[in-house]
Amino acid sequence: TMADHLRKYESLFTLTPQRMRMIVEAFTECLELGLSKPNQIVPMIPTWVFGWPTGKETGDYLALDLGGTNLRVCLVTLQGEGKFEITQTKYRLSEEQKQDDGQKLFDFCAECLQTFIESNTGDGPGQLRPNQLLPLGFTFSYPCTQERIDHGELIRWTKGFGAPNTEGRDVADMFKKSLEKYQLPVELTALINDTTGTLIASHYVSPRTKIAVIFGTGCNAAYMERVPDIPKIAHLGIASDAEMAINCEWGAFDSFEHEHLPRTKYDAIVDDTSNKPGEQAFEKLISGRYLGEIFRLVICELIDEGVLFLGQNTYKVEKPYCFDTAFLSLMESDPTDELLMIIGIFTHFFALETTLAERQFFRALAKLVGRRAARLSACGIAAIVNKMGLLEDGCSVGADGSLYNKYPSFAERVHEGLVDIFGDRGRNVVTHHAEDGSGVGSAIIAAMTKARREAGL
Ligand code: BG6
Ligand code: GLC
Repeated sequence: TMADHLRKYESLFTLTPQRMRMIVEAFTECLELGLSKPNQIVPMIPTWVFGWPTGKETGDYLALDLGGTNLRVCLVTLQGEGKFEITQTKYRLSEEQKQDDGQKLFDFCAECLQTFIESNTGDGPGQLRPNQLLPLGFTFSYPCTQERIDHGELIRWTKGFGAPNTEGRDVADMFKKSLEKYQLPVELTALINDTTGTLIASHYVSPRTKIAVIFGTGCNAAYMERVPDIPKIAHLGIASDAEMAINCEWGAFDSFEHEHLPRTKYDAIVDDTSNKPGEQAFEKLISGRYLGEIFRLVICELIDEGVLFLGQNTYKVEKPYCFDTAFLSLMESDPTDELLMIIGIFTHFFALETTLAERQFFRALAKLVGRRAARLSACGIAAIVNKMGLLEDGCSVGADGSLYNKYPSFAERVHEGLVDIFGDRGRNVVTHHAEDGSGVGSAIIAAMTKARREAGL
């Protein structure tokens, strides 16, 4: 029966508190290792964002966001005291553009920026003046090694991107070439990661924020570190009372070796068939890009075993990545006894009829996949909390991304996971929806960078 099958998947996808604590321990060691030496599995990237914003940052900034679901251009006016205004336009990036030559990708970004500037220039309030030179914060949400704030060498593409001639190169420089080509009145002030932007933007509006996490197409975290605790930059002679934001790139945890995470055979298939086998092992168990696919692979196995959809044509659901992660949250939140939402998904998108027992199974399976993702995420957060000794006083974790914002039970499950790891004290660590990191955050960082420069730092 479907209930027997479910039991099998329950044992594959369930994480015990004990297992979680083991993961946290290994994770904490990996974070330390990344801080101590360059080129480690979890790269722990120094971002050159020094300390928290004062809240007094003001001015007009452009922000460009590449790496989430949308390509976005924003005009942000910081008004100080944690207040701001924002105007933005979203652009769509095609799958082909993600695989096309890197310089072309940045040219396209510059083109969108040009369109945005043109349509927001005028003499009205909140508009740009013709040829007004604006500082730009570029949120480029892929792992980049940074030697300065306006520099970033792409370590590797993640989240399915594959544009050739980009890995190993300075993407800030490539983007500057595109800005010149289009002769835009823009100065690239800072290259940032979405997690760093989220950290700074969240702290700007709620100063208890100590950690930021993105749960979206990808999964990653940033936090503020004491400079003396970043041994790999000791030779640079930065003031020892300084703090710097670290972009962890924790999605890479357990890559290649696969020693620590509970990978099922479905996870192995997701990995093997990706454009980067072996890489981003943690992210592939958690982020929105992959959860629907993990679910789909289980369904396909049951089709092969003759358990599901006998006598029906299943070709539609057999197409890789056709099962959107949004379906999992829709299935889980179906309020009807008949599970009408699930009927809708399967008939409308996959031309498949389902029995009530099957639908109950699908819902339960979605829950297993979604719950595992949230509990693993809790392990990552716990590792940073451990490392920074934040448990006693507690802290607030700014979180953003489609998974966090749209998967109804995700946050609650992360919190449950933290309690399973830390016991009651786990309640001291709480996530909250973050302020727009790549818009507001990138503007604040551009402002902080300008202020440092003017102070001769
Ligand atoms: C947005 C943040 O809301 O979430 C971005 O402002 C971030 O900085 C994005 O990149 C990530 O989520 P997704 O789901 O678009 O990958
Ligand atoms: C991927 C990227 C990382 C980004 C995250 C969330 O993990 O490598 O840079 O922060 O996705 O968008």
